Amino acid sequence: MNKYLVIGNPIEHSLSPLLHNYWFKKYGILDSIYEKQKVDKKDLKKIIEQVKNGELKGVNVTVPFKREMFDCLDASSSEAQLTKSVNTLLKEGDKVVGYNTDQGGFEISLQKNNWKPESKKILIFGAGGVTPSILSTFIKANGDNKIYLCNRTRDKAEALKELWDKTVNLFGMNKNTIEIVDWGKKIELCDLVINTTSVGLLKDENINFDFTDYDNNEDTLFYDLIYNPKETNFLKDAKLRGNRTMNGKLMFLGQAQLAFKMWTGKSPEINKEVIDLLD
Ligand SMILES: NC(=O)c1ccc[n+]([C@@H]2O[C@H](COP(=O)([O-])OP(=O)(O)OC[C@H]3O[C@@H](n4cnc5c(N)ncnc54)[C@H](OP(=O)(O)O)[C@@H]3O)[C@@H](O)[C@H]2O)c1
Repeated sequence: MNKYLVIGNPIEHSLSPLLHNYWFKKYGILDSIYEKQKVDKKDLKKIIEQVKNGELKGVNVTVPFKREMFDCLDASSSEAQLTKSVNTLLKEGDKVVGYNTDQGGFEISLQKNNWKPESKKILIFGAGGVTPSILSTFIKANGDNKIYLCNRTRDKAEALKELWDKTVNLFGMNKNTIEIVDWGKKIELCDLVINTTSVGLLKDENINFDFTDYDNNEDTLFYDLIYNPKETNFLKDAKLRGNRTMNGKLMFLGQAQLAFKMWTGKSPEINKEVIDLLD
């Protein structure tokens, strides 16, 4: 039996086993099983060893170990290096290689909404572990984007901007710009407003920001990376104002689709059935 795992702490909430086992069944990959395991930081090296010796065929890594896993590996994809974040492990030859499929998952979610990251104004809340994967989508797009980055702890946003500035120079994509704004400070109207913070995971939480300028604005897309709960206050309020909204489910499905393809060679379909499966 080929064994796959998602590791994290906490891990009970993870929907990855449900999704990957559904796809294994659907595509007749009956010699494979996907489970979840709560781990501590000290266990990461052992997990890598288990991938190396074949006990594990593939691993997903979730909060809070994506950065730590990157630091533990000898080999990683360019995307993982750019974002210093690994969410997928795969054995290649005698090496265990770390990939970041969150970035690709985010890109897939924008494509499915016909949203092109070109010449856009984007407001990003948050500067945590997932935010570099979001930023790197706009770097790769090379499309003259203006990004406002707003985090409760300003220092973390500054550190991310430093990483961004180095990267855009490296890729010669200096047309994209990023500006740090203080938490709660109003700025010009944006085309995309993204919540990459964990605010909203709890029912009563709300981003403390005055969005009245967006009243009756059908052009702006409000995107919350959170998908459980399905509709955070950030999205509920946006809907009431008349803005377009989406949650993080398509990004989650996109990152899983990319990992599944790496492990099995099969690109599973993202359709209504699988979207409903996660509700
Ligand atoms: N859809 C998907 O596939 C997907 C993938 C990855 C992550 N996510 C979601 O993205 C979210 C962030 O994940 P992460 O890994 O980046 O988490 P993280 O590294 O723990 O970062 C948390 C972020 O939230 C901010 N924050 C937390 N509590 C806050 C509060 N009360 N007020 C203002 N800001 C607050 C933090 O700001 P400070 O720096 O000030 O602490 C930081 O920017 C999670 O909800 C996760 O579920 C979704």
